[in-house]
Amino acid sequence: MRRIKIFDTTLRDGEQAPGFSMNLSEKIEVAKRLEKLGVDVIEAGFPVSSPGDFDAVKKIAGKVKNCTVAALCRCLEKDIDAARETLAKAVNPRVHLFLATSPVHMEYKLKMNREQVLEQAVFSVKYAKKFCNDIEFSAEDAFRSDPGFVCKIFGAAIKAGALTVSFPDTVGYAMPAEFAQRIRYVKEHVSGMEKANLSVHCHNDLGLAVANSIAAIGSGADQVECTVNGIGERAGNASLEELVMGLKVRSDYFSADTGIDISQIYSISRYVAQVTGIKIQPNKAIVGDNAFSHEAGIHQHGVLSKRETYEIMTPESIGYPKDRMVLGKHSGRHAFEERLCELGISVSDDAFEKIFAGFKDLAGKKKSVSDRDIEALVMDTAVIIPETWKLDHWAVNTGSALGASGVIRLQHRDGKFEKFISMGDGPLDSVFKAINQIIGKEPELELYELGAITGGSSSQGETMVKIELDGRRWNGRGVSTDVIESSIKAYLSAVNAMLYELGEN
Ligand code: KIV
Ligand code: ZN
Repeated sequence: MRRIKIFDTTLRDGEQAPGFSMNLSEKIEVAKRLEKLGVDVIEAGFPVSSPGDFDAVKKIAGKVKNCTVAALCRCLEKDIDAARETLAKAVNPRVHLFLATSPVHMEYKLKMNREQVLEQAVFSVKYAKKFCNDIEFSAEDAFRSDPGFVCKIFGAAIKAGALTVSFPDTVGYAMPAEFAQRIRYVKEHVSGMEKANLSVHCHNDLGLAVANSIAAIGSGADQVECTVNGIGERAGNASLEELVMGLKVRSDYFSADTGIDISQIYSISRYVAQVTGIKIQPNKAIVGDNAFSHEAGIHQHGVLSKRETYEIMTPESIGYPKDRMVLGKHSGRHAFEERLCELGISVSDDAFEKIFAGFKDLAGKKKSVSDRDIEALVMDTAVIIPETWKLDHWAVNTGSALGASGVIRLQHRDGKFEKFISMGDGPLDSVFKAINQIIGKEPELELYELGAITGGSSSQGETMVKIELDGRRWNGRGVSTDVIESSIKAYLSAVNAMLYELGEN
């Protein structure tokens, strides 16, 4: 079995895409979950690009112990210096350097010729190598570059000390057979290739990122770069879960596997969707809601007779919760604790008390509490952002003839209560305006999504919001059996994240 390395860039290429931003504590939680998932490398950010990325790489480098933490850098001294600072505490640091090699990028973006690009790449690898042994060099837009030039720059980078060279299809232009051929060519024509790992980094503009990455593995690639749920620039990156399960399910074909604990796939996928506020399309392979549901009668009949008729993998293998719906208001602490255990959720004692109290409250409102409800409660409690403002109570008055009015009473963390009444174009507009009056800021509501956690009219409503202020964005999430309350909670959690990051809590 060949061991393929998984390089996860959810926190860098994924997070840098508009709409996918995460705050610091969410990034740390994603990194912890990636470590538990068993990825080989976590690309934690691009330190020089913003203070937020700098802090995130630094914090993650200090916390993650069992995998490599990479920081992205252009081939510039100031970028590498920033990476050095952020990776100082990492157990296994990696500097990931990139420089474009395609004619269009060199001429119009870099305004450099081939010799200059080659020289800068070699200089940067040597410069970074002074403090970090593990250097990866990526030839940005490699697929649209002259293959001979890419081989030359890879050979020079390896000679200068790079331990991994990466071949990105930056604009998602390649076709699988063509990509496989190119990777084989690189494997055979780079001098010193046997001393380094070959990585690929595929984008999904033509929907082929996973297919191209898999084709590259067939041609000898040692590492694939990917993101949870395939999030990333434009149409995204190769999706981690599809790559990993492709290799797992078809290990007979590839004789290759990864170090991923596949039972963690479902929960990290849900977590990333929740913190970014971007829902997973229902028919998404592996983690979509419909990925394991069989609607057609003939399929249902087949699966009931023998699962393998229409299922090539089991939902349980990726940690998909079986919705047994047996917990209710009479369930005790022990049953609840056991269920958390079965769902692979481990929480501190304090968090357990909070989640259990939330469960009891919910069980009083709903006949039965499903696994999905429990996951939502855990998500709510896992929020590490301090609550500057807590919801005390709310009321709305609305109707078809009149405008809406909303009353909000919040409690500040220092104990004081503030109340405001506001008119609005609808019930949510009125309560959001009342919250804005209390906090003294007017963020824009950029995204609002309301869904049901399980089916049925007694299901909990789950609201995701994204707010924007002066070009910065924060996500919020709220859950309640009342959709107005879940919306208020979501808005307030985004507001608390904003105040925390702005240092106004
Ligand atoms: O797509 C790309 O080429 C990249 C590089 C920075 C590696 O993300
Ligand atoms: Zn990329």
